[in-house]
Parts: sequence; C-alpha cells; structure tokens
Amino acid sequence: MTAVRQGSAWFSDMAPHHGALAPRAHLDTDAARLPLDGDWAFRCSPTAAGTAGFEAAGFDDRAWDRVRVPHCWQLEGVPGPPRYSAPAYTNVTYPFPLDPPDVPDENPTGEYRRSFDLPAAPAGGRWVIRFEGVDSAFEVYLNGDRIGDAMGSRLTHEFDVTASVRPTGNLIAVRVHQWSAGSYLEDQDMWWLSGIFRPVTLLHRPVDGIEDLFVHAGFDAATGQGRLLVEGPTGATVRIPSLGVDAPVNEPLVVQDVEPWSAEEPRLYRGTVSTAGETARIAVGFRTVAISDATLTVNGVPLALRGVNRHEWHPRTGRALDLDTMRADIELMKRHNVNAVRTSHYPPDARFLALCDEYGLWVLDECDLETHGFEKVGWHRNPSGEAGWSEAFLDRMARTVERDKNHPCVIGWSLGNESGRGANLESMAAWTRQRDPDRFIHYEGDWDSTYVDVYSRMYADHAETELIGRGEEPPAADRAADAHRRALPFVLCEYAHAMGTGPGGLAEYAALFDAYPRIAGGFVWEWLDHGIAQRVSAGRGAGREFFAYGGDFGEDVHDGNFVADGLLFPDRRPSSGLSELAVAYAPLVLEPASGSVRVRSRLAHRDTSHLAFRWRIEDDGAAVASGLLEVPELEPGGCADVPLPAAAAPAGPLPGSERWLTVSAHLAESAPWAGAGHEVAFAQARLDRPVEASRGPSRPAGDAPCRPRAAGGWDLGPGRFDAAGTLTLLAGLPMVGPRLDLWRAPTDNDERAPGTAPAAAWRALGLDRLRHRTVSVAEEEGALSVVSHVMPAGSDVGYEVEYRWHAHDGGLHLDVVGSPLGAWQVPVPRLGVRLAVPAALDRVEWLGLGPGESYPDALAAVRQGSFSADIAELQEPCVRPQENGARRGVRRAALSGGGAALTITGEPFIFTSRRWTSEALDAAAHPTDLVPDPDWLWVTLDAEHQGLGTGACGPVELPQYRLDARRFRLSLDFRTEGPGRNRFAD
Ligand code: GAL
Repeated sequence: MTAVRQGSAWFSDMAPHHGALAPRAHLDTDAARLPLDGDWAFRCSPTAAGTAGFEAAGFDDRAWDRVRVPHCWQLEGVPGPPRYSAPAYTNVTYPFPLDPPDVPDENPTGEYRRSFDLPAAPAGGRWVIRFEGVDSAFEVYLNGDRIGDAMGSRLTHEFDVTASVRPTGNLIAVRVHQWSAGSYLEDQDMWWLSGIFRPVTLLHRPVDGIEDLFVHAGFDAATGQGRLLVEGPTGATVRIPSLGVDAPVNEPLVVQDVEPWSAEEPRLYRGTVSTAGETARIAVGFRTVAISDATLTVNGVPLALRGVNRHEWHPRTGRALDLDTMRADIELMKRHNVNAVRTSHYPPDARFLALCDEYGLWVLDECDLETHGFEKVGWHRNPSGEAGWSEAFLDRMARTVERDKNHPCVIGWSLGNESGRGANLESMAAWTRQRDPDRFIHYEGDWDSTYVDVYSRMYADHAETELIGRGEEPPAADRAADAHRRALPFVLCEYAHAMGTGPGGLAEYAALFDAYPRIAGGFVWEWLDHGIAQRVSAGRGAGREFFAYGGDFGEDVHDGNFVADGLLFPDRRPSSGLSELAVAYAPLVLEPASGSVRVRSRLAHRDTSHLAFRWRIEDDGAAVASGLLEVPELEPGGCADVPLPAAAAPAGPLPGSERWLTVSAHLAESAPWAGAGHEVAFAQARLDRPVEASRGPSRPAGDAPCRPRAAGGWDLGPGRFDAAGTLTLLAGLPMVGPRLDLWRAPTDNDERAPGTAPAAAWRALGLDRLRHRTVSVAEEEGALSVVSHVMPAGSDVGYEVEYRWHAHDGGLHLDVVGSPLGAWQVPVPRLGVRLAVPAALDRVEWLGLGPGESYPDALAAVRQGSFSADIAELQEPCVRPQENGARRGVRRAALSGGGAALTITGEPFIFTSRRWTSEALDAAAHPTDLVPDPDWLWVTLDAEHQGLGTGACGPVELPQYRLDARRFRLSLDFRTEGPGRNRFAD
C-alpha cells in the first residue's frame, strides 16, 4: 500500500511564494499599464481541489457567476445572506486546528477567470502582473501556464508573465484558498475573509526602465537644509523643478531652504526620475526621524503621536476599499485632530499612504503578521521562533518596507502584532535596520525591547504610563535589557479601547502625553467598528438593516461583538467617543477665565497663523455677546495670555441664570480636509458667581395641601398618586414613577473588565431586578412623604429612598434622598430615578451639557448650552445595544409632543430618555431588536453615573470615576406646560 501525505500542497508550504518577483516600491510611471479590476468569472467550492482544468483558455465558464474584483467573496450578497462561504470572526483563536503548516480539508476556494488584450506599449521589455492583496494564498495561470503562487494577504506580489503573454486574447486564471500556511501568520483580530480584495494590474516594464527607487529626504532643522539621495538605476536623472534639482541619481544632494514635511504641514515637492525608457513621478517630503535622550523627534522636535489604529473596513465590501472611503477616513481623522495612524495590523492599500503624504498623518506602518492564537497553547510551536518560518517572516517584512519606503508619512516600521517572541522577529528587525536606518523599528510583543527602537505597550494604565514617562518603571524582565529600554522613547501602540459607549479617561492620557517628552503618544484602539451590513430576515422589523458581528453567521468559534470596538460606527458615523478624542487631541489648549484666555499651542511644526479665534457669552444658553479674539501668532509650542475685549463683559446675567464664556479656535481658511471656520479647539468658563448648592433637601411648605383620595391614593396640587405614593397623573398627563433606579444596560466596558467585570457582579447582586417595598406613605406638613426600600431578591444591600413631594407654583416639587443599605462591595451603575411619560413627548429641549452624550470620565466634548433633539436622536447606534445617550449637567429638560409638554427643572441632573427600558436595552443583541414602547417614553434622572473606563480590553475607570454606593439627593420640579396640557386629561 502506498501512503500519500495529504496537505502537501503548495499552500501548506511555509515558503512564502514560488515564482514571485523581488519586492519593490509601487512607482507611478509613464509605462503602459492595464488595470485588471472589474468583472471576472467566479466559482467558489468548499475544498481546495477546485475545478479541474479551469486554467485552460478553452474552459467553458459561462455557467460561472460574475463578480467585481476587488472584493471579499464572503461579502458577496451583503446585506443579504452570504452568497458563497460565510464571514467568520475571531480575535485570538484560530478557527482551524493548530497543526502548522497544514490546514483543514474544508478550505473554501475561489477561482477567477478573465481575459484581456495587451495595451499599446513600446516594443520589447517585459510584462508583469501585480496583485496588491489576495487573501490568503493564490496561484496564477496565464494562457494555461502556471506562473507562480504566493501568500501574504496584505502584501504586493508581482509575477513576470512575459513568456506566456500574447498581444490579444489572454486568459488569466487565479485560484485562491481561504486557508494556507500563511493563515498561521495572519491571526489578526478581524473577520476571516478571502479573495482578490485589492487591485490587480498588468504592467509593462520597458527596456531601460526603472525597476525601483529609494528616496531618502532628510531635514536639518538647524540649517534649514534638505538632504536628498535618490537611489535608482545608474544613469537616471532626478528633477525637482521647484528646488532647482536636476542631477543624477545615487548622489547625495544638499538642498538649501527647503520646507520640511510634517503631519501638520505636509510639504511635498513633486518631481521625476527618468531613464531612457521610463519616467517615474516622485513626491518628496523632507523630514528626519531621530531618537535622542529617550525622546522620539521629527525635524528636531519631540513627537506627540495623537493617533488611531486603523483597520481597513467597509460594512459592505469588507477589506476591499475604494479611494473615496480612504479619503473620507483621512479627512474625518484630520477633522478630529488625529495626527497619526498605526496601520493595524498590516500594510494598508498603497493608495492610503499616498493620501497620508498629501494630507499629513504620521504613519506607523505595520507588517502583515500576527500569531496570537499560539498563546492559547503556551506559544508552543509559535512560528516566530521556528526556523522553518524564517523565510516567510523576512519576506513579509521586505514586502512591507520595499513597497512603502518612499512615503514621507511613514516614520516607523512595525514588525507585526502579538506574535510572541522569537528569532524570526529579531531577524526582521535586523534586516529592516540595515535596509532603512532612517526610521524607527517597533514591535510591542517583546516588552524587553532588545531589538526595537521604541518601548511599546498596549493598554498600560494611566499610572503605569506616568511611571514610564518619568523613566521610573520597573526594570525589564531581563535585567541586562533594562538600560537599553530605559533609553528608549515610549509609545502606546494601543490604548483607550473604544468599544461601545466610551472610551473614558482620554483627557487624562492626553495630559500625560503633554507632560512627559519620553511619551511619544499613542494610538487609540481603534478607528472603526467592523460590522457587516445585514438585514433582519423575518419577523418583526424584517428588512431593516443592522450590523452583524461575530456569531451572526453561525460560526462555531467566535468572539461576538469584540470586532465592534471603534470610534466610528460601521457606516462611519462618528460616535461620541470620536468627539471626545477630537478634544483630547486638540492642537491648542484654551484656558478661559474671567477677563482673559490662556492659549497654549500643542503644534510642534507650525505657528498659529492659520487659526482664527472667537469668543461668545451665553446666559442660560442664550447668546448675549460674541466676537473675534485677537490672539498673537504663537510659535510652535508657544503660549500667551490674551485679554478678552471689553465687549465680553456685558451687563448681567439676570439673578439665577448661568453665564458661560466659550472661546474657540477655527481654521481661518479652508484646508483640504475642512472648510474655513472649522473648529479645532474650544473651552468654556462659567462667569456668574455660582449659587452655592443647598446642603439638604429643601422643605418649603407646599402651596396646595396633600389630600387622601376616597378611592385610595393621594391628590397633591396638579398631581395624583396611587396608594403606594407613586405619581400617576400630573395635570392630566399620565406618568409612572419616578422611582429609584440603579441599573444601566451594561456597556461593553462594564461587561468585559478583566477579572472584575462590574456587569457580572451587578447581575450576581441582582441590580437588574430590584424590588421596591413601600415602607411608609404619609402626609407631612402639606407634603407627601414616601419612604421605600429598594433591594434585589436574596440580598441585604440596596437603598432606602425618601421621595418628598410638595405642590409648588402650579407644578410639583420632588426631593429625593437615597441612602445605601447594607455593605456594598461593588460600584453602583447609576444613582437616580426613572419615570415613564406618554410616548408622544418625543422631543426635548434642554439646558445643560450637549449636544452629545456625556459620562463622568468622557465629558470633554460637550459644552454648556441650550440644545434640542428628537428622542431618537439622543440614542447612539451602538452595534450591540447598551447604556448610552446621557446628558449631564441638565438644569431644565422640556419634553413635548402630541400637544403636551412636561418640563423638568432642578439642580443639575443627568437626563437620559429612550423609547425602551434599560432592561430592553440590555436584552437586545442588535439595534433592530429594540422596539419602541407604543405607550411610554422612559426618562431617567440621575445624580451620578459610574464612569466608563476602557475595561473591555484596557484599564477600568480611574478611581475618581468609580461610583461607590453613597447617599445622594435630587431636587426636581415637574410641571406641564404648553397649549395642550390637558391633552391626556382623564
Ligand atoms: C489587542 C490587539 C488588537 C485588538 C485589541 C482588542 O490586543 O492587538 O488587535 O485585538 O487588542 O480589541
């Protein structure tokens, strides 16, 4: 009997390719090229065998489907059910056995065919086919000849097809396997998707052409000189007319008086490199990256990376992105003061980097590498340490560096993500250092940092980050590595996990970035939720779209909604977290006070001449004066105290109203990413003398007596109460409550905090199923006093709460005092009351913080003012429904609709309102599960909330934002107003 070893196919070979050309830069040249994107015949089959003979020119593919390349085949059919194999999401776990380098027999395989004619081109030369991204392994045939194969999904591969190509009627056939040896190196936290997902191009390589160029362009901040060296084919000429450069390549040039490139001012000099056969266009940005004194600098100035991690994602096309989407990402980043991108966790579409050069973003370019799932088996057989994988690791790094080496935006190379330790990583670093000594090398996975240039960590908390900033961190695990690491700058390659509502604690990180030059900043995890557009298939809400996450496609191994942890919702609608980030990353810090404003510039490379400043005074949200603020031009990093004009001190405010000063900085002229007037920073200061809050509940005598009703319950002024003392009618408006509420639909951060997930503790305690026991209901001095104990079943902790009502000036006044019962061991989600009012009251105007939501540790983006919104607009469309939408510091909330109105005023409270309860919000898996209550609008009025933190993956809320059980009070006034006040009268 002869045994045939299965799995010995080329795609189970650790060798990264067979027959691909050496990597080189993508050059923009005048040589002929033919995009091969567009319609291809396509067939998907469940195993690697595929279709016999599919590569033959004469093969009949008329029965095959037609797809548009580039695409991810699992997203064909979206938002309907996947037409071929289904998407699957895992974070760390490989969705196949750890049996490297082999992969399972179930190996969805896509086959592609199309024909083409050669474009016109000078005689001679060679023809090359370039694939910019194919996931995960592919073999290429031209006119029936096998050309080669390759792995490395997010890397460019080129093949020489000269020997097989014909002038017309060429047939290219490509077979793509979902799983390959390469998949072991691509365990990034994202959807597993397959196909030809980036452009495919046929390139002519002319005789005497330009194979590759390496543009080195440094800047000497002391002299203003640029240093230019273009490495290219002997005999080529580099020309940059605006600099007067016209010189042979391979010769170092000194260029006088250049403007440097920076993310703040991305000055590019356009030029050409020419040989006899080809001319390439180049875009040169002069900048020098260096490390001195444990500080990362560019052009001699310490760098503060105010960054985000960006995966490539679109909810309908997956990782196949169009140029408009890339541009939209960059413009949105720039508009939110983001200055840096880590291309987590692979080199992006090449066009993205060209846009970063142009718009100005610092880029940490990461290699396509992650082996995180080996951690689950104690890193046993981790490819990073196995000699057999060394060629694959080096090939991946070389393809990253060679393709992207000419982009001024790229300031550092990252070896990959979460791949443990091992000699292969060290070889990648060593190769990179000799190939490109002008950029720093990053890898987070080895905290001892022996072969990298920056000490990098993810999710270090504020306290540890500060220690590192001071250079006082605990020693490296290997003491011998400590001195080297202590001399390195520090980068948070991931921080502030932006999953669900949040992140909390950004402002405190921003302050650390400002305080310590060793901290070169960081990259928030992450830019965008990776939801997949789907439709509710049947039943209630059929046809409505939602964004699917792990498990929604029936995966047997998955990580749920951990894939939705971005600052943008999947449709790129910004979340409140992004607004928070814009403030944390603002280029200026404004500190207004009565009479003056301190303006501190965080710009490191340009002055403030492109900005204009404004001031505005508002009394209780109404503008009373405003104007322009004259701010002297600040040098980079400069600071000035600027007096406010006399007009900024108008008469007033009326007693009892609040006066707020807002100062703001705007673009004076439009930029490529935002129009003139775009606000880049703001700050507020309260100018009236705050009336001191009263210390205890007010107990004024009511102006109408409280009377028992014959049928049971009580009448008090415009209010009717049931026998338990619960308000049921206010001037004819039906109500339920208010009653104590401690529960919130846990946020992702509440659910996931490692080890100490508060949500689990809250559920164990029963805060989601509180019982109310009325201890007493009594008339006291004309007021109605109700005392309740509110506790979960099976527990002796809870709250005693007194509600004291009195009639006042045609409305009702309520004082609530809550006092903890028992020994609380967990923080409290919220402290407040919940009531239900008629659903018709679907619009709210409020005076307080807005327009967006705010939580104790995420309130930098909101401002004092007067705002209005439909109730629906108050909701944040979290991919997995959870607590959201709170408005803090509210002094008046006026609900209206259906001809009725209810106004709630009081000492500042937190206002939250939705058409469903917190319990329904908690139970929903997707927003489409939320059904508006036909009768009731739910309103929660709180004294305080538990902070948000970033515990889904990072640190929990800072201690000052933890809400421990404590006594609280609320002082609220309820009155119906408006023409239809009796609309609901019985
Ligand atoms: C990090 C990882 C990211 C992502 C994040 C959690 O450990 O590098 O890829 O998984 O955690 O969302």
